[in-house]
Amino acid sequence: MTNADFEKLVDTSDEWITTRTGIKERRIADETIFSSDMAAAACKNALEMAKCSGDEIDVLIVGTVTPDYKLPSTACVVQEKINLPNAVAFDVAAACTGFINGLSIADAYISAGVCKKALVVGVEKLSSFTNYKDRNTCVLFGDAAGAVVVEADDSGSGVQSIFMRSDGKMRPLLWAKTGGAVHPYTSEFTFDGSDKITMNGSDVFKVAVKEMANACKNVMERAGVGPEDISLVVPHQANIRIVEALAKRLKVGMDHVFLNIENYGNTSAASVPLALDQANRKGIIKEGDYIMMVAFGGGLIWGSALVKW
Ligand code: COA
Repeated sequence: MTNADFEKLVDTSDEWITTRTGIKERRIADETIFSSDMAAAACKNALEMAKCSGDEIDVLIVGTVTPDYKLPSTACVVQEKINLPNAVAFDVAAACTGFINGLSIADAYISAGVCKKALVVGVEKLSSFTNYKDRNTCVLFGDAAGAVVVEADDSGSGVQSIFMRSDGKMRPLLWAKTGGAVHPYTSEFTFDGSDKITMNGSDVFKVAVKEMANACKNVMERAGVGPEDISLVVPHQANIRIVEALAKRLKVGMDHVFLNIENYGNTSAASVPLALDQANRKGIIKEGDYIMMVAFGGGLIWGSALVKW
């Protein structure tokens, strides 16, 4: 969907969306494609790139807040679709940081000897969860999936440090209130948008810049590296102004920041692995590079992972 498509839906303009967010278009999955389908496609590509077969995978972790079903997890559906006979599969519901939280679990499992090879996925079908009557949110979101294979080795590459935090009292700033156990759908429910994403954008914006910068500084400090050592920042693509403000706080030039927001918008848990994969396939990432991933989302929750490629 392009900005011109939204001009027909709500009171907005290409000029407003472009200058306020950096987004020009987003990918919308059709009615027959669900999170498990996009995740399965991303997993197949990741396995192929890693030259790894499905029976080698011990754990499949799917970060998503747009699952196929309430029960079971989307990860279990993906497991069946791509045939991972030796894996345990489960979801992580951590909104836009779902991939980083999933990566942290894979890293911890591998470090503890619980598993040797993990598939970590971020996927969202946010179009199923977006109120296309609300101009404050509908122009922001898109559908996508990204996946990585994480495996044990002793080369010193991989996750160097991870930082994660959340603050549940800020949950009304970004949530979908109706549809859970607290506010279940009833026969009287009439559409008021409360079962879709609602957000106080300007408040979220301020916390996002501050906490993503803190998270990045934390992982750099614990890994003993400075901003000059970071080859590439791969940030959650929520708003280009957030990313620019983050880069300024970190003293990292925008030429060291990967952006794809223009073409994909905010894809929540898929945002970081999608950007990481594009940067990698474009040959921007080289062996030995320090890559900083950072994300922020509904919870509120945020986190950063410093990875040596
Ligand atoms: N088109 C035109 N006008 C719009 C609009 C749109 N699509 N969306 C909002 N506006 C209007 C608002 O109604 C408001 O009008 P008002 O002053 O008459 O009330 C005005 O623009 C300013 O709104 P505001 O929310 O202050 O804009 P903003 O500069 O903060 O930008 C966001 C809005 C959502 C783009 C921005 O706040 C943001 O990106 N927030 C963080 C998102 C995020 O990181 N989420 C976490 C991860 S999911």
